[in-house]
Amino acid sequence: NIPVITIDGPTASGKGTIAALVARALGDWHVLDSGALYRLTALACRRAGVSGDDPEQAARLARELDVCFGDGVWLDGEEVSEAIRQEAVGNLASRVAAYPAVREALLARQQAFRRVPGLVADGRDMGTVVFPDAQLKVFLVASAQARAERRYKQLLEKGISANIRDLLEDLQARDARDTGRQAAPLKPAHGARILDSSELSIEETVQQILTWYGN
Ligand code: CDP
Repeated sequence: NIPVITIDGPTASGKGTIAALVARALGDWHVLDSGALYRLTALACRRAGVSGDDPEQAARLARELDVCFGDGVWLDGEEVSEAIRQEAVGNLASRVAAYPAVREALLARQQAFRRVPGLVADGRDMGTVVFPDAQLKVFLVASAQARAERRYKQLLEKGISANIRDLLEDLQARDARDTGRQAAPLKPAHGARILDSSELSIEETVQQILTWYGN
């Protein structure tokens, strides 16, 4: 049974950064950024002219995604790491992610990331749906204020100006959509450990997860 650590939580809780560092600390485990698959599906929809109101076509594109993960992400042979981070793609991702048919279409693809020596999977339903038998399930949270401030700093570093109030509103809208939807709503998995990182550094957060895992 190949070990899996799941890290679920709301938007901007730092899951991606934490997952990558935990994977590295464990000796280069694999990482699954499941949100990227929803973003790739959204990008594929945009490129194929499929609207966010068409679950069947979106699910077909999800099933047929030709993706490759490495130092970046490739869709149909084209590097799309930047393209999938666009705001519009994120918004469409959150709409298509609400369709059960799209989630079902991505299930086996996500489970295939479980390879030796182990996997750290981050998303919304890693512990509840995709890897219910994971050895450790973490539910990573942080106050909306802390998440807005972190995102603000990230944007500043990229030279993008933003305002905390708008970021905060955006986060709260996304939280409401993630927790309120019917299909795989965001909630702690059975047996999940809740980790509030509002007052923790990245290193402290990673260390807590390693300690729970027994490292
Ligand atoms: O930047 P943010 O954390 O909001 O996005 P993300 O983790 O890249 O995920 C993009 C979208 O996919 C979000 O709107 C999530 O609701 C959705 N998602 C999901 O439904 N299930 C997952 N396991 C991962 C992401």
